[in-house]
Amino acid sequence: MRILGIESSCDETAVAIVEDGTRLLSNVVNSQIDIHSAYGGVVPEVAARSHIEVVNLVIEQALEEAHLTWDDIDAIAVTYAPGLIGSLLVGTLAARTLALLKNKPLYPIHHVEAHVYANFITEQAPHIDLALPSKQPAFPMLALIVSGGHSQLVLFRDHGDYELLGQTQDDAIGEAFDKVAKMLGLPYPGGPSIANAALEGDPKAYQLPKARLSGAYDFSFSGLKTAVLRAIQREAGVDITFPSSGLAARLSESQRNNFAASFQYTAVATLVDKAVAAFKEHSPASVVIAGGVAANQELRTQLTQRLPIPIEYAPMSLCTDNGAMIATLGYYSAIRREPVSPFDLTVVPSLSMTKTAWNLSEK
Ligand code: KG4
Ligand code: ZN
Repeated sequence: MRILGIESSCDETAVAIVEDGTRLLSNVVNSQIDIHSAYGGVVPEVAARSHIEVVNLVIEQALEEAHLTWDDIDAIAVTYAPGLIGSLLVGTLAARTLALLKNKPLYPIHHVEAHVYANFITEQAPHIDLALPSKQPAFPMLALIVSGGHSQLVLFRDHGDYELLGQTQDDAIGEAFDKVAKMLGLPYPGGPSIANAALEGDPKAYQLPKARLSGAYDFSFSGLKTAVLRAIQREAGVDITFPSSGLAARLSESQRNNFAASFQYTAVATLVDKAVAAFKEHSPASVVIAGGVAANQELRTQLTQRLPIPIEYAPMSLCTDNGAMIATLGYYSAIRREPVSPFDLTVVPSLSMTKTAWNLSEK
C-alpha cells in the first residue's frame, strides 16, 4: 500500500511517498528557513502564503521522484494537528481536494505522533541514500519526543495505543535551544546553531541547574533558560536589567561557544535522566527519539552511553519536519482505522497526544 503524506504544520512544505509503512519512495521538503531567518523566527502569515505557493509543486515533485502517478497511490495522509492554523489549512485543503479529485481515502495525522514514525522507515528506493535503522522498533516502545513545540516521554504498547508518561511544564526543549541561541546571537534555527557552536566549547565551563519537578517524567526548561541568561549577564559584566538583545556583542567567541556547550550539555542530560528513569520503570523492548531535537548529536551520544539497550536513530533529515513520517503513520492508520470524509476534515491547531490514542474498536 502506497501512501502520499503531506506535512505543512509549520515552516516546511513537505510531501513524501512511503510503501507499506516502511519503504521510502520519495521525500521532498521545501524549507522556509531562508524566508523566516530574517525575522529570527517563523512568521505565521508568511508561512501560510509560502505553503500556498509551493504545495502543488512539492506534491508533483514527490510523485516524479518516485516515478509514480496518482494511479499508483492508495491513500493520502495529511497533518491536521497541531500547528499553525494557516499552515495546517493549506496542507489539509490540498489533501481534501486531491482526495476528492483522485478518489483516494484520506487519513488525518497528528504531527507529534508522526515524528515517532520516522523511526519505522527502514527501507528506501535506490535513488535515495539515507542511513536508515536496520529494523523497525519493537513494542513496548519508549519514545522521547523533542521538538520546537513538544518535550514528552510516551510509552507505546502498540500502534495508536500509548500513554503519555510526562511532558514539559513550560518551554519545549527546541524552544529553549532557539531562545538561548538568540541570547548568544546565533542564527535561527537555534538548535543546529547551538550544536555547531558547542563543538568548539567546553560543556563544563558554566555550571547550570537541572530543574526538579514533582512528576517523575515531567520536564522544565524555563529555569535553565533564565540561568543561562543570568550567567551571560554576569560574564558580560552587566546587571539583570540589561536587555538580552545586547548581550551577544559583549561575549567573546570562546565564551559564546562555552555557553552553547554548557547549555546543550545540561539540557540534554535532563532529557536523558528522565528517559533512563522511564526505561528502568517500564522495561520497553525499544527506545526511539523523535522530533527536530532528535537530530542533536549530543543527545544521541548521551543516550547511547546511558541506555542499557542498543538504540538506532532515524537519519537527521527524517527527524525534522517531513512528509515521510506522515505517510508512514498514514499506513498504520489506513490498516487500522476508517478514512475521514474530505468534506469533514478540520484542523486542530492545539491538540495534545493525551487525547489522540486511537480507539481501535473503530474498525
Ligand atoms: O520537529 P521540528 O522540525 O518542528 C516542530 O514540530 O517543532 O523541530 C524544530 C526544532 C527547533 O526548535 C530547532 O531548533 C530544533 O528542532 N533542532 C535542533 C537541531 N535541529 C533542529 N535542536 C538541537 N540540535 C539540533 N541539531
Ligand atoms: Zn515537528
